[in-house]
Amino acid sequence: MADTNKTATLTIGNSSYDLPILSPTEGPDVIDVRKLYGQADVFTYDPGFTSTASCDSAITFIDGEEGVLLHRGYPIDQLASKSHYLEVCYLLLYGELPTAAQLEDFESRVTNHTMVHEQMHRFFTGFRRDAHPMAIMTGVVGAMSAFYHDSLDIQDPWHREVASIRLIAKMPTIAAMAFKYSVGQPFVYPRNDLDYASNFLRMCFAVPAEEYEVNPILARAMDRIFTLHADHEQNASTSTVRLASSSGANPFACIAAGIACLWGPAHGGANQAALESLKEIGTPDRIPEFIARAKDKDDPFRLMGFGHRVYKNFDPRATVMKQSADEVLELLGVENNPLLQVAKQVEKTALEDPYFIERKLFPNVDFYSGIILEAMGFPTSMFTPIFAVSRTVGWISQWKEMIEDPQMKIGRPRQLYTGVSAREYVDVENR
Ligand code: SDX
Repeated sequence: MADTNKTATLTIGNSSYDLPILSPTEGPDVIDVRKLYGQADVFTYDPGFTSTASCDSAITFIDGEEGVLLHRGYPIDQLASKSHYLEVCYLLLYGELPTAAQLEDFESRVTNHTMVHEQMHRFFTGFRRDAHPMAIMTGVVGAMSAFYHDSLDIQDPWHREVASIRLIAKMPTIAAMAFKYSVGQPFVYPRNDLDYASNFLRMCFAVPAEEYEVNPILARAMDRIFTLHADHEQNASTSTVRLASSSGANPFACIAAGIACLWGPAHGGANQAALESLKEIGTPDRIPEFIARAKDKDDPFRLMGFGHRVYKNFDPRATVMKQSADEVLELLGVENNPLLQVAKQVEKTALEDPYFIERKLFPNVDFYSGIILEAMGFPTSMFTPIFAVSRTVGWISQWKEMIEDPQMKIGRPRQLYTGVSAREYVDVENR
């Protein structure tokens, strides 16, 4: 972030205020309003933060108009095709692609922390069998604060490192346990001879009654889905993790807060909602009815998996995900998957409709991911937990960057007060 020696002048009445303009490496300049309230006794007002930079960060850059997504400068399509999830985790956490030796050490540290404390198994039995896996993950990840006391001091770099590895390593295990619990099958322990994605698939789909062979096609697709969801600038759940962490709360509690935020259908819950919408549409002849409903302001129905606060051209992750859906379903021999056909027709119809064109509503990362996940055998309730597994490294990387920033302050927004002014208390007999 560079001072530009440029300033923005704000004039209020007979007073003018010069506000510094700061320049990024990529993207729009920012007006530094940190001193505005002290100088002019006014707040800025931006519900939903549509025009607000909440922090500076060097991890991920998004250009919504150009459909660009960079992780530490590397384009997402190159990472999705040439890298793999744990290498992307290293890149997000430490800022550079690892050497072979660094990658081997990192993968070994993650692999050797994939088991959870045995007593954590008992948390699961307290939930109803039909509990949503996101409810279970929110609870169990928060409860990690009660187990890992040796990695709670956020001011200790070693504690931060250990907590980061533990969370990246254990999220797949916890998500798989939540799935197994929901289907009444025994938990499957991780295996150290499997890669990250293969381990997750085996923990989800293996049963004690028979050997489970991981399908390499599905393992590659799973790893690609993890890579595509790893981080995404200051989205709602990442901002939640940053705000929670700014009070000094421990990383496990902050990641649990991120999981809770991601669950919402406007955010990470959209992949489950998108596939459920496609199932409700069912056949191409019903698409016009649902497109009309999505446009009807009196109908709460929205085309889930469409639209994005930042991307106003296309979501580069959706492009890669769509290619992956074609490949995976063809390799699985289900290329005529009716849901994929409906999804492609919905996309075509929406992209030709003025309502969607005017509002720059395009398929986002959640539109195609559910089709792949369903083809793998996951129920829709597991779609958002898989998103949470992947996004943990993004949350942790952004958390680490914030904690290590000497300028870090507790996040404490102000408000535009619209309530009643001060008034005297009235005794009940006089009301
Ligand atoms: C993710 O931020 C991130 O980076 C998130 C994410 C990540 O990786 O972390 O990318 C992951 O959350 C992707 C988004 C998943 N959500 C969905 O697919 C849910 C459906 N999409 C919408 O709810 C909506 O598009 C949002 C929430 C994604 C974005 O909302 P905005 O930017 O606040 O825009 P808006 O709601 O003000 O919509 C602008 C207009 C409105 O119409 P008008 O009032 O102008 O007439 O577009 C309409 C909206 O009604 N609109 C839609 C629509 N999305 C927006 N109309 C129908 N269907 C939709 N999907």
